[in-house]
Formats: sequence, C-alpha cells, structure tokens
Amino acid sequence: MKSKHQARRRRRKLVILNHPLIDQDMLVLRDKRTGHIVFREAMKRVSRIVALEALSDIPVTYKAADTPLARMRGRCVKGSVVFIPVLRAGLGLVEGFLDVFPSATVGHVGVYRNEDTLDPVEYLVRLPSRLRQSATIVLDPMLATGGSACATIALAKGQGATNLTLATIIAAPEGIARVRKEHPDVRLITCAVDKKLNEKGFIVPGLGDAGDRLFGTL
Ligand code: PRP
Repeated sequence: MKSKHQARRRRRKLVILNHPLIDQDMLVLRDKRTGHIVFREAMKRVSRIVALEALSDIPVTYKAADTPLARMRGRCVKGSVVFIPVLRAGLGLVEGFLDVFPSATVGHVGVYRNEDTLDPVEYLVRLPSRLRQSATIVLDPMLATGGSACATIALAKGQGATNLTLATIIAAPEGIARVRKEHPDVRLITCAVDKKLNEKGFIVPGLGDAGDRLFGTL
C-alpha cells in the first residue's frame, strides 16, 4: 500500500531542487574558469543529490528484519532501475547515480543537436531489454529546447518504458514546456530554471556546452 507521502510525491511532476550544496557546486559549474577536472567533480557531487530525488518514488516493497531486540518491517526497492545517459553530457551524471544506486543497469543514447536546426540527431541506441518492468531515469544535465530529452524519452517509451523520470541540472523554460507537453507523464527534476535560450539555443546564463566542459574538448 502506498503511503500518503509517497502518493503526494508521485503527483509532483516538476521538481526544482533547493539545496545549498547544489547551489554552491552550481557556481563552480557555471564559472567559465572552471577546468574539466573540477567541473567533473562538481557535477558528480550534484548528481548524487539529484539521484536521491530521482529515486525517491521508485516502487517499493516491505520486508521483515530481526533487530537484536525485535522483529520489524521496513521499505526496500522493488524491481529494477535503469539509467539512460544522453551522450555525451549525460555521462557526467552516471557515476554519481551509480554511487547512490549501484545495482542499476545503464542504457546509452547518443544524440547531438544539429547546429542549424537544433533538431536532435540520433547516432547510438543501446537500451536494456527489460524497460517495461523498470523505473527508468534519463540523465542529461542540460535541458535547452528539450529536443534531445524528448527524443530519448520517446525511444525509451518505444521499448516499453512506462515509469520515466528525466534528471537534469539546468533547464530552460522552453525545454520544460516541451517535455511537459510531449511527455506529461514524465517526472522532471532540475536544479535550476534559467532565464532563456539565446539565438543559438544555448541556455542563458547556463554553463556553456556541458559535454565539452566535462570532457575538456572546448
Ligand atoms: C547538449 C546537451 C543536451 C542537449 C540539450 O548536447 O548536453 O544533450 O544539447 O539541448 P536540447 O534540449 O536543445 O536538445 P549536444 O548536442 O551539445 O551534444 P554533446 O553532449 O555531445 O556535446
């Protein structure tokens, strides 16, 4: 049986995390002087906190445990969990998510944006077979137009996923609106909603190109 608390959480389809430790690392991520080593470390720290929220409404079951004093019942995770990082920048969230939930399996979706049209171009799809039975969390730090995230969510749904969460770090209002419109069933988590997209489709103020900053390919 679901607790009232769990039922309430389920209804919150947009979660904007509010935590001083996140805010502190967001300043590191946004600072243009931050190099890739420090950038990666900061993203990993943030991703652990995002993972806790993303996993907060996964299916649970109840089990008995015998403490030295008494028998009691407690919650544990029911079923499997799949993380799907959107290449490349989503890779920056994987380690932190696996730190928090090591038994998850990991699918990969490679999508980049056509620089002129901003439309997502898919170049790799490797998803685990049992998405239908799994809680599926799509990982991408940046939600700009929402094209890459929506394409990845559609791919996951096409392979059976029904319980989907999108975990991001920075989102533009345009991207949030698109995900809410195309995939209203998907829970969306972010750490910041930035002001706007510029004419090149970059989030402002944002942090620049997350993939390049993560992998030192600027
Ligand atoms: C960036 C970012 C997201 C996507 C967001 O990836 O990491 O995946 O753009 O934009 P959207 O919401 O408008 O689709 P990019 O295309 O730069 O590829 P990369 O991660 O390989 O650099």
